[in-house]
Amino acid sequence: MKVGKAIFERRSVRFFNERQIDTSILREILIAGIYAPSAGNLQPWEFYCYCQPDSVDRIRSVSPGIIGKPKAIVVACVNEKKIKEQKLEKWASNAIIDVSMACQNMMLKAFELGVGSCPVTSFENDTLAKALALPSYVKPLILIALGYYDKLPQTPPRDESVIHIETRSCDKPSQEQAKIPEDAINFATEILGFLVTSAKINTREPPSYAIMRLLEAASKICEYLASSYPERRDISESIKNELDTASSLYFIGDDNYISHLEKALEQYLHLLSS
Ligand SMILES: Cc1cc2nc3c(=O)[nH]c(=O)nc-3n(C[C@H](O)[C@H](O)[C@H](O)COP(=O)(O)O)c2cc1C
Repeated sequence: MKVGKAIFERRSVRFFNERQIDTSILREILIAGIYAPSAGNLQPWEFYCYCQPDSVDRIRSVSPGIIGKPKAIVVACVNEKKIKEQKLEKWASNAIIDVSMACQNMMLKAFELGVGSCPVTSFENDTLAKALALPSYVKPLILIALGYYDKLPQTPPRDESVIHIETRSCDKPSQEQAKIPEDAINFATEILGFLVTSAKINTREPPSYAIMRLLEAASKICEYLASSYPERRDISESIKNELDTASSLYFIGDDNYISHLEKALEQYLHLLSS
């Protein structure tokens, strides 16, 4: 099946027939899930697939969002232990995205295999986790109801006005055609050397130094912009000041460095629109 066909023709199926789903088919669906992208390839997920009628009924009893009687249910979970072990708590929102992407993969694969699916978030997360005796570090995020169907539902309407594609002017010279001044090439070469050597020596430095090197590189870029583009001098210098302050605060472990990065980003937005 072409990917496009699966994308456009998959529907949320809520009414299923009596045909059982073979374990090998369930496995194919779940394998498609784990081939989804995940931030940093952390794969911060666990997938539990239930197909015994009493397990399915148990899940349905705490999941009002499951309409109809699926033959199997995937409980797609975030593995919080994995996130904590890697000290990636600040990254935790990525896990929700990762699990969601895996679920979409599974639903598309199910459609290819003739199995209907419906994502469900209307369920009582904590009660479900307890009812299934899931490990405490596993948090159910989405259920996927699965089953064969007699008829696919109609396609609910989609609103194309949410798509915003930047228009391109044919008159504008493309980047390849624009002439790059020599000092820009020299500068790019210098910054390249700085960044690559920073990455190399970071293998024998504290990992936190990497942020200082990035700030230093950004500061050098501001210096270059200030000296090469007079109309951008003030704003480039002001971004540089914020970056240098952030760097010195970061060095002494002062969390206020973030507020200077925020100010630098605000000014950067002005630079973009100037
Ligand atoms: C995050 C999420 C949660 C959903 N929860 C439910 C649910 O609890 N019960 C249900 O019947 N459908 C649920 N759906 C299915 C949507 O109603 C469905 O995707 C939408 O109406 C579009 O229809 P389609 O999937 O056939 O294109 C959910 C979908 C998503 C993405």
